[in-house]
Amino acid sequence: MSYKIKYFWEIIKILEAHEPVLLKDFIKLVTPITGCWVDCTFGAGGYSRALLQNGASQVLAIDKDSETKVFLKSIQNEYGNLIKFYNQSFADMETNDDITNRDDIDGIVLDLGVSSMHLDNPSRGFSFRKNGPLDMRMGNQPGPTASEIVNLCSEATLADLIFFYGQERKARKIANRIVEERKKKEINTTFELAEIIRAIVPKNFKKDPSTRTFQAIRIAVNNELKDLSKALIFAEKKVRRGGTIAVITFHSLEDKIVKDFGKTMSGKASSINRYRPLVSKNYPSLIPVNKKPVVAAIDELDRNKRARSAKLRVYKKVSDNPSRILANIEFPEVELGI
Ligand SMILES: C[S@@+](CC[C@H](N)C(=O)[O-])C[C@H]1O[C@@H](n2cnc3c(N)ncnc32)[C@H](O)[C@@H]1O
Repeated sequence: MSYKIKYFWEIIKILEAHEPVLLKDFIKLVTPITGCWVDCTFGAGGYSRALLQNGASQVLAIDKDSETKVFLKSIQNEYGNLIKFYNQSFADMETNDDITNRDDIDGIVLDLGVSSMHLDNPSRGFSFRKNGPLDMRMGNQPGPTASEIVNLCSEATLADLIFFYGQERKARKIANRIVEERKKKEINTTFELAEIIRAIVPKNFKKDPSTRTFQAIRIAVNNELKDLSKALIFAEKKVRRGGTIAVITFHSLEDKIVKDFGKTMSGKASSINRYRPLVSKNYPSLIPVNKKPVVAAIDELDRNKRARSAKLRVYKKVSDNPSRILANIEFPEVELGI
């Protein structure tokens, strides 16, 4: 089989296997869909395609991973230039003139985290189930890689990031063991790191012992929490009145950022300090469409394991102007010091 044909079948296989999480719930909550949407996390294009199928007149799609561009062709074949793709981080949307110059953005959606293409490709180094180089970069950023973090950060920094980003109670012990092991030999593969963690964290029938530590390192490599908060602040400014902001999160740190942001912008946050004044209750900027986050139904959970931890929150913009308050989005930030 020629390389091109093999590559084509690889893409078809990925598309067949890939089911975008909570897509039906998203479409239901944001319908009627009109106008221009920004899909901040294009991935395999499931959300972008569904937006066009359900009424969007234009989709501006972003992904920091240039490899996702292979999924653009089939959407372009159907919808021509109604879809445009930008290989950049959604944290830098304000540098994208096609987005900033528009004042008619109807919706912005973020379906966060890694895609199954990342997890399934051992050479990207995201998975503790497949051996590969310890990389974990989602985009084309120069670094640091997961391997640089694991081999160069101080023990205290490793402990902090595993604790705060992974919410792993055994963070200090894991950090200590990593430092002991790297004195003997650099830790360069996903299996090497997973083995170190398994020696510390007991097996659990629900989760692999490495889950939390891998999540923590991935968040640090990709600056995920800061990028999310930057994107939310921009989205609230950019979406038109009546427009929508929708976010699908995959762990509690992300969900807390979205929830706190929604509370502040809808005037529901308690004013805990003088730097975070309440938005006037009469003039909130956003209102939540769903009071409780949407989670996957049992049939989706049966088909798609990734949906287990997914939560969807949707907000409507109800004011003409962006909020003048600075959303003080709080999240743990660990300086890598490398
Ligand atoms: C869960 S997948 C999205 C799947 C997509 N909604 C679909 O239907 O196929 C998340 C995607 O977001 C991308 N991503 C994560 N963080 C990003 C960021 N800061 N900027 C741009 N893209 C990002 C990842 O590269 C990945 O392709």
